[in-house]
This record gives sequence, structure tokens and C-alpha cells, in this order.
Amino acid sequence: MAKVLIKKEKTAMVDGKERVVSSFEKHYVKEEADFSTKHGTVRKKELKKKAGSRIKMGNHEFIILDPVFLDHYKQIKRGAQIITLKDVGAIIAHTGINRDTMVLDAGSGSGALACFMGRIAKQVISYDIDERSLEIARGNVELLGAKNISIKEGNIYDYKKINEKGIDVFVLDVPEPWKAMKTAQKVLKIGGFLAVYLPNISQMQEFVKALPEEFLIEKTVEVIEREWAVDKFRCRPATKDHAHTGFLTFSRKLL
Ligand SMILES: C[S@@+](CC[C@H](N)C(=O)[O-])C[C@H]1O[C@@H](n2cnc3c(N)ncnc32)[C@H](O)[C@@H]1O
Repeated sequence: MAKVLIKKEKTAMVDGKERVVSSFEKHYVKEEADFSTKHGTVRKKELKKKAGSRIKMGNHEFIILDPVFLDHYKQIKRGAQIITLKDVGAIIAHTGINRDTMVLDAGSGSGALACFMGRIAKQVISYDIDERSLEIARGNVELLGAKNISIKEGNIYDYKKINEKGIDVFVLDVPEPWKAMKTAQKVLKIGGFLAVYLPNISQMQEFVKALPEEFLIEKTVEVIEREWAVDKFRCRPATKDHAHTGFLTFSRKLL
């Protein structure tokens, strides 16, 4: 069992100016052991307190929360580059994944996208060719306790060996998705969605050129998320990098 400990930012008047005197902290902690920070130690007995309880660590006060899916998700082990939340959101929204949806996913990578889709979909089957990725993805599925996700070993380009059928949403986050067109034709049901994620727009054009006639391209998007710092002191874009992640093309099988 886990708990989340939150310490809010604190401000105070210093030399006539309001300043941050204690910064925000968030910790994901296991209830089975005492937990230490630079402020002191919380005994495991205290970690069992209910959500909303306040506990002291040195001079600081922390609030205990019960973790939600996102808190657990952020603990997953990372191997291959995982898809970002903004792109996960776009895939779910543009394909309408819901509790009746059968999803096929490749490559599993760290299983991040598969795990997120598994929270919403009926079932997720995810393929990877790399042993290390398979191990990490399977470990993450177990960590999150997902029962409707199968991580399978296989080359998604080899349509003869991919035997799923009647798939509603097929997501490709692999280096050469254009090699998986026969797989897409085989696995997707009529009206099913093919969502392809690629970091370079030139690769996306290569994919679009390879897309068979019986698919309809709905749209290509790049999701740009701009974080702002809004508090007592600031009201401006956050000073984080706005790194490019990738492009997404959504298409549907018509025939
Ligand atoms: C960028 S990662 C996918 C990340 C994943 N979407 C996530 O959110 O964790 C790409 C993965 O595709 C796998 N891969 C590459 N070629 C493949 C193929 N032909 N069939 C299946 N998986 C493949 C790689 O081993 C790698 O793990």
C-alpha cells in the first residue's frame, strides 16, 4: 500500500517582501516502512492515517493523501521513451476509447500508453520485439495491477504472426509504422481507428503515402502544451522547455 505526502509552498514577509520560505514537495511512499526526508522521519504507523491527516516532519507539515491512478502511473519504470500525457490524451480523445474498446498497441516500450489505455478500454494487447522492453512493460502492468492488458512478444510488421481480429483502435508507436499496413488491414474492424505517433513530419508523410486506399485519413496533429506559472508572484509562461514530442495521424479503415 502507498500514500502520497504533500507539503504546500509557504510564503512569509522577509525584509518587507513576501517570499517563498518553504517550497512545494510531493512524495510517493510505501506504508510498510518509515519514510525519511531532509526534514526528518515519519514512522510507518503515522503513514496509515487517513487521507487529509496532517503530520509533522521537523518544522514542516505534510498532508497525507491516498494515491490515485496517476500517482501510481508516475512510478512506472522507464526504458524506451514513453509517450507524454498530452499525446495520450489526444489518442484517447480522437479515437473515443471507452469501456467497450478493444485496443492493439505496438511497441509496448515501457507499457506507459498501454497502461493508460487499459484504465479506459475493455482490453489492450500490446506487442514489442525487444526483450528488455517486454520485461519493463510487463513489470509496469503488474505494478499498476492491470488485469486487462497483455504484453506479447512479436514483430508488428509481420502480419502473418499477429492474429488479433476485430480491433477497434490500433496504435503504432514504432520506428517504421508503414511496414505495419498489412497488419492494420488484418486486425482492424471496419470503422476502426489507426493512430500513428512519429517524431518527424517527414516520417509521417512516408506513413501517409503507404496508407492503403481503404483507409480514410481524418487528421494529423501536433499537440502543443504550454505550461504557465500562475501564483502570487508570477503570471507568465513557465520557464520549462516546450520540447517537441511528436505528430499524430488518425485514420479509419473504411473497407
Ligand atoms: C518509443 S517505444 C514505445 C513507447 C510506448 N508507446 C510507451 O508509451 O511506453 C518504441 C518501441 O517499439 C518497439 N518496436 C520497434 N520495432 C518493433 C516492431 N517491429 N514490432 C514491435 N515492437 C517494435 C521497440 O522495441 C520499442 O520498445
